[in-house]
Amino acid sequence: MNEVPLNTFKGTIVQERQLKEVIEEHKEQAGGLMPILQKAQDIYGYLPIEVQTMIADGLGISLSEVYGVVTFYSQFSLTPKGKHRISVCLGTACYVKGSDKVLEAVEKKLGIKSGQCTQDGLFSIDSCRCVGACGLAPVMLVDDDVYGKVTPDQVDHIIDSYLTKKEVKANDR
Ligand code: FES
Repeated sequence: MNEVPLNTFKGTIVQERQLKEVIEEHKEQAGGLMPILQKAQDIYGYLPIEVQTMIADGLGISLSEVYGVVTFYSQFSLTPKGKHRISVCLGTACYVKGSDKVLEAVEKKLGIKSGQCTQDGLFSIDSCRCVGACGLAPVMLVDDDVYGKVTPDQVDHIIDSYLTKKEVKANDR
């Protein structure tokens, strides 16, 4: 699987209309930028510069002001996320138990680096800091599922299980 090349933003007319409605809704509200950014991320899945520019223009503020907020809060992402979000904990407890090797195995399996998304949009990889499950170190998350005491050789199987889930769901229809 290959990474998504840069400059691949493709917003639709419908998304743009939704964003404009959201901007109108919160335009006059003090602190309206936060809910706009949150809803914009729901609409697009992430907040590329093109979306930030539309928000800045809509609110009559500078792009750097919008960018400053987006990059300050970890809830916002500048890069596309996959249908399944993989996150490997690189907090101290996990790191000393080899989570860097787990992350390497995930990157190798998907052919992308941390912070990137596969071209088919199925998986994205990130690293994170302590998620409060140090007793299970090293910890890896896929969406809301927590995998503890993960070894690099289990990574293939864990990721493949999400592909299988997709096939099972498709066959159920
Ligand atoms: S350091 Fe990974 S869960 Fe705490």
